[in-house]
Amino acid sequence: MKYVIGIDLGTSATKTVLFDSVGNILASASREYPLHQPHNGWAEQNPPDWYEAAIETLKKVVSDSGVDAADIVSLGISGQMHGLVMLDENCNVLRPSILWCDQRTGKECDELTEKLGRETLIKITANPALTGFTASKILWVKNNEPEIFEKCRHILLPKDYLRFKLTGEFATEVSDASGMQLLDVPNRKWSPVMIEACGIKEEYLAKVYESPEITGYINAETASLTGLSTATSVVGGAGDNAAAAVGMGVVEEGKAFTTIGTSGVVFAHTDNPVIDPEGRVHTFCCAVPDAWHVMGVTQGAGLSMQWFKNNFCGEENTLAAESGKDVYYITDSMAAEIPVGAEKLLYLPYLMGERTPHLDPDCRGVFFGLSAMHTKAHFIRAILEGVTYSLYDCLLVLKEMNISPETMLLCGGGAKSKLWKNMICNTFGLPVATSKSAEAPALGVAILAAVGAGIYSTVPEACRVMTAVNPDSMQPEKVLTDEYRGYHSVYSSVYKALKPVYKELKTL
Ligand code: XUL
Repeated sequence: MKYVIGIDLGTSATKTVLFDSVGNILASASREYPLHQPHNGWAEQNPPDWYEAAIETLKKVVSDSGVDAADIVSLGISGQMHGLVMLDENCNVLRPSILWCDQRTGKECDELTEKLGRETLIKITANPALTGFTASKILWVKNNEPEIFEKCRHILLPKDYLRFKLTGEFATEVSDASGMQLLDVPNRKWSPVMIEACGIKEEYLAKVYESPEITGYINAETASLTGLSTATSVVGGAGDNAAAAVGMGVVEEGKAFTTIGTSGVVFAHTDNPVIDPEGRVHTFCCAVPDAWHVMGVTQGAGLSMQWFKNNFCGEENTLAAESGKDVYYITDSMAAEIPVGAEKLLYLPYLMGERTPHLDPDCRGVFFGLSAMHTKAHFIRAILEGVTYSLYDCLLVLKEMNISPETMLLCGGGAKSKLWKNMICNTFGLPVATSKSAEAPALGVAILAAVGAGIYSTVPEACRVMTAVNPDSMQPEKVLTDEYRGYHSVYSSVYKALKPVYKELKTL
């Protein structure tokens, strides 16, 4: 039997999973690291933390699985997208990585838009200038830390920094590179126009591969630290959402999934590079060669629940620790006691600004409709519903683009919640099921590794063997769909009403 490894470099932790060639998990390990928020709206991590987490978890899966290292033929890396890693000429990290959810670059986005025009940006990169994307982060360093910018010789995404450490190669692949705003997305290659606009050189950027292609091999140092073999190849891998798509078998036209991790995403595969002229959703190259995907993003999905749990759920956290139950199981049970609509309490999940559909870095979270009768359980229910409405906004934009999935797969930590699944099913008005693999991004890149190693000849062929859907399909009920959509309509009005007020608040 041959084996493959998937590493998922997430925002809260790195998860490493070793699979056999039909998709069974033999060993998995995870290690968390901190997220630094030195100012409101900033989000940074230290790249060496990712490397340490990868080495530790790789070592653990190799030893726990008991598999002969020579049989681990290939490895894929998935990662949080958009983060900026800058290295100097000696390949030393120049500053902490500025992450996908960092919102500091509003001015630099205006600068890019003035320079190139919104239409050109959308035509080349399939998106208007966005604070989350890497290009504006490069410009921010240029404008604010010129001494660091001067020293920069290599620009990498988080997972590609890890690849560099594991293999010594400067490589990336089309799906993650699509989120840098430096790639010509319809043509799957770096855009000279975008490179020039950011004041950098193409040689600073990594070589672009298709996701299942081999980009290098485990180097001697990694092999000695982890027990892996230097014959193990490392394939392109994918950005976390493109990787999750492969791990769920969403690799053909008509298929779609929703994920609730720190951020939330509604993702649909497409064989053509369809672009929203307003740029409200992202069109990215997908991990299947010659195909694309369209996705809408909710910035504060799981993050909203995590924030509430960390700040206001002391009792529930203690109860969880004492009973051995997951704290989210406890908060879910509380929310399940509250009726649809949380007795008119609405939540807007804009804790980190919002991408789809508003593209507004200045909007902020809101509880609307508070009454003295509301309890903590109402707040929890309102959060779950508010995130669901934001994800429904993503689906509505896809529908405007004539992408209308008939079913929806669910993944990410939020998929463990039956209540959230029910809300999504009924608000979307679509049958919803979960994927068998709880580790969709890690499985996705392990599948790409299996294709790179020649175990399968195409990504869809590998997915047919290595992925499966749980027999837990849920059907929407019209009465509930009508009820949730009524609240969604008010939810939409709250943002419209507050839009000018957010701008005013920003000036204070
Ligand atoms: C996608 C995005 C997030 C990050 C973090 O555009 O910003 O999904 O990849 O997971």
